Amino acid sequence: MSLDDPRVFAEGDPHRVAEILAAFPAQCREALTLRSEPPLPRRRPALVIIAGMGGSAASADLVAAAGVEQLDVPILVHRGYGLPAAAGKHALVVALSYSGETVEVLSAADAALTRGVPLVTLSAGGRLGELARSRRLPHVRLPGGLMPRLALGSLFFGLARVLADVDLAVATEAELAASVTQLESLACALAPGRPTAQNEAKRLALAIGDRLTAIYGGPATGAVAYRWKTDLEENAKLLAVAGTLPEMNHNEIEAWRGPAARDRRVVFLREEGEPPEIARRFAVLHELIGPAVGGVSECWARGTGRPARLVALAYVGMWVSYYAGIARGVDPWTVALLDEVKRRLA
Ligand code: F6R
Repeated sequence: MSLDDPRVFAEGDPHRVAEILAAFPAQCREALTLRSEPPLPRRRPALVIIAGMGGSAASADLVAAAGVEQLDVPILVHRGYGLPAAAGKHALVVALSYSGETVEVLSAADAALTRGVPLVTLSAGGRLGELARSRRLPHVRLPGGLMPRLALGSLFFGLARVLADVDLAVATEAELAASVTQLESLACALAPGRPTAQNEAKRLALAIGDRLTAIYGGPATGAVAYRWKTDLEENAKLLAVAGTLPEMNHNEIEAWRGPAARDRRVVFLREEGEPPEIARRFAVLHELIGPAVGGVSECWARGTGRPARLVALAYVGMWVSYYAGIARGVDPWTVALLDEVKRRLA
């Protein structure tokens, strides 16, 4: 399958996902202006619990990873019903659901209201938006019309704004603006019009093909590895696994043996300026499993500042999973089983 033939996109992408991906930097630029209405009380919490699922939760992982070195307050991404016992009055609960219809997040918001825990909501509408309106809760209204996973820019920058409002900025305004500028320059390099020979995302997608792929990141890029995995699953309908170094050196590494390993692919997500001990671990891992597996690729997070590096790396993964879906002849937009589960459990 050639990814340089415009006809494969005209036929294989009926919902025009490529246009949404190409407009991703613009989505991020617009998201820099998102604000909570009414404004959040400027009270610094002792703990932040972000309740979200799927693409919304993966955005929260990226924000938490972006801030891990400067925030002295723990950020917990809660994926499930209700809230953990740690959600007390000293905490801030952030209910994050792009659609505003995710029952787990609605249940977390209810639990926060019942327990009297400060609550802020982000959604493009839905029941969560309605709850915020009726209870006059601080609410960030996200631009609508997208699949949640494609709204990463709105979710990431909207959430970063909420944290900055409670004195927990994961980056300066200038760093966040710089990350958008970087995305703008990356967009052309990854678009369908850029031939495979010069397009990193197309090359990675073709290398992955139909194979089970493991995405491994380091301490910071591990959150992006998880996001790549979920994008491969939702966009390309391809099972993937994600792991983080150093942890995977202590367990998962043992699964990379035997004839079955030949049918699998590995992608390392590296970060410019990563600690030398992590660089060394990637090198040793490559030496040890490289001969057994069906190929190892690397993709580097580049740019100034961690938010820029993490969002740009996630953006590459969005394109990789898109091209992988197109190459496999599946529609990158539809998620029929995911929708059916929601319908049955509504
Ligand atoms: C679908 C997608 C899913 C959703 C998840 C939660 O595009 O990405 O993973 O994110 O089902 O839905 P929201 O984000 O609307 O709360």
